[in-house]
Amino acid sequence: MQVKKVPRVDDRLFTGDNMSHFPIYRPRRLRANENLRRLVRETSLSTDDLIYPMFVVHGHDVADEIPSMPGCYQYSVDRLVKAAKELAALGIPGTILFGIPQSKDPLGTEAYADDGIIQGAVRAIKDVVPELLVITDVCLCEYTDHGHCGVIESGEVMNDPTLELLVKESLSHARAGADVIAPSDMMDGRIGAIRNALDENGHENIPIMAYSAKYASAFYGPFRDAADSAPQFGDRRSYQMDPPNVEEALREVALDIDEGADILMVKPALSYLDVIYRVKERFQIPVAAYNVSGEYAMIKAAAQNGWIDEKRVALEVLTSIKRAGADMILTYFAKSVVRWLE
Ligand code: PBG
Repeated sequence: MQVKKVPRVDDRLFTGDNMSHFPIYRPRRLRANENLRRLVRETSLSTDDLIYPMFVVHGHDVADEIPSMPGCYQYSVDRLVKAAKELAALGIPGTILFGIPQSKDPLGTEAYADDGIIQGAVRAIKDVVPELLVITDVCLCEYTDHGHCGVIESGEVMNDPTLELLVKESLSHARAGADVIAPSDMMDGRIGAIRNALDENGHENIPIMAYSAKYASAFYGPFRDAADSAPQFGDRRSYQMDPPNVEEALREVALDIDEGADILMVKPALSYLDVIYRVKERFQIPVAAYNVSGEYAMIKAAAQNGWIDEKRVALEVLTSIKRAGADMILTYFAKSVVRWLE
């Protein structure tokens, strides 16, 4: 390269940001080796960011692998406790629990029974691994025979009658010892109703992680097998959000903040990175992103076919979720990530 060119003032105006041009500025200089790359890296993924979802079923000594989610299991409570110990040993901060009841009925009765599957699972984990944060998903779809997230009247999911059941479910989780309550049903007004009930019953210190922007997504497919929660008629589009919308997500989030949410969630993560970004930009509140079952299954399936490198793709995806603005990620890759980052 011959003469160095000093950028002219109008060149700078052209870039709009006072940055020098090639050949003075060569971006590749800072990519030359791993130590330089480490120093200028803008986003880091760590064990501190991870929440591992687990599924719990009735029975003893059960650990059934979920076919569409290789490496994930439906555990009976005894095996769940072992898995919880493993999470704590790996340094993962928390788990979110989903329960599969003994039997289902129109009102999802087991969801709010003090001797229900989740309530027993929470007590057992808190007994043996008290340091592991136990987050409970509050919803009815795993417990109702129709598979919807609320009470049905004339084929419609009724909002306000559902709130009463979600409140009962949240209180029973709190009594069992849950550390964080995470409502995923998408009924209007549920955060306020649950916050009031928790406060009135002496649980004012239990945070709410609100599934605020939860979309009616096809990426939940494998989860519905895992949790046996597919709707038996219709779909969830009358209560979960329409995928093309983002301004509506900001309104949902604002409502949840007003009603007392401590952590906001965007779900799924990967097709909604712009939503994560917009939420984080607008509100100074911790944001969680749910890297859902379908996002996990796609990577697993392609990796099993030898088409992609599982570790590199998973780390790239999770890092992109953090780069978009998520403070924490719920992911079925959590245990693998800890090992990969070692
Ligand atoms: C509802 C709930 C769902 C998921 C988490 N909570 C399913 C749904 O709304 O149909 C999906 C999580 C995943 O796909 O990994 N209780």
